[in-house]
Amino acid sequence: MHIPDIIIAVDGYSATGKSSVAKLVAKQFGFLYLDSGALYRGVTLYALENGLIDPEKGIDEAALQQALGHLDLTFRAGDGGGTYMGGRRIEEEIRTLEVSSWVSPVSAIPFVRKYVDERLHALARHGRVIMDGRDIGTTVFPDADIKVFKVASDEIRAKRRYNELVAKGEAPTMEAVLKNLKERDYIDSHRETSPLRRAEDAFVMDDTDMTLHEEVVWFEGLIRGKYGILE
Ligand code: DC
Repeated sequence: MHIPDIIIAVDGYSATGKSSVAKLVAKQFGFLYLDSGALYRGVTLYALENGLIDPEKGIDEAALQQALGHLDLTFRAGDGGGTYMGGRRIEEEIRTLEVSSWVSPVSAIPFVRKYVDERLHALARHGRVIMDGRDIGTTVFPDADIKVFKVASDEIRAKRRYNELVAKGEAPTMEAVLKNLKERDYIDSHRETSPLRRAEDAFVMDDTDMTLHEEVVWFEGLIRGKYGILE
């Protein structure tokens, strides 16, 4: 089926499986997948590695703002693809529980949001993009052609994130994972600058009891329905 060069925004709470389905939809329809959370995670990793975060004193915002002037975060496709900081692949490092526990406060800083928004607009300039995050359909691309807001039960979200971390060799407790998810939900939806919320024109998808395949079929139905593609 031929799909026009549209922008699809997928927003929702942490660990609702936004990236898993977005990646598959991108592959199936020949879209570019952009993971906005990975950019916030990249900024957080940079801050942690460069001593700009102190567990007692918090984030050194002045130093971080200066660093963003030359921080080169981007995505590469294909084998060895993923998120890059300069020439270094950081796909694994940005998914640790340590980065997860600082990413929400870092992403609540307005100049960090501006930095990420600009990167996303530059990366999406050719269109035909599916992007996931918290504020894509409300702030980054309020005119996105299709908007989806994902939700899932706390239990399934914690289970998914726990399994991901264990597969990567970390040894978190389920309680720590759930606590991190809830803290991030709270910070992400209560911050002043572009908080997480459903865009009025977003379709809600509750994937608690859905398989990934069912989710892809759901997206396909949405796209076909919107563009009147019957075959
Ligand atoms: O999708 P994720 O869990 O990788 O995102 C990590 C954090 O980044 C999330 O807790 C909040 C922040 N984020 C955001 O504020 N806005 C986005 N568009 C994407 C992520």
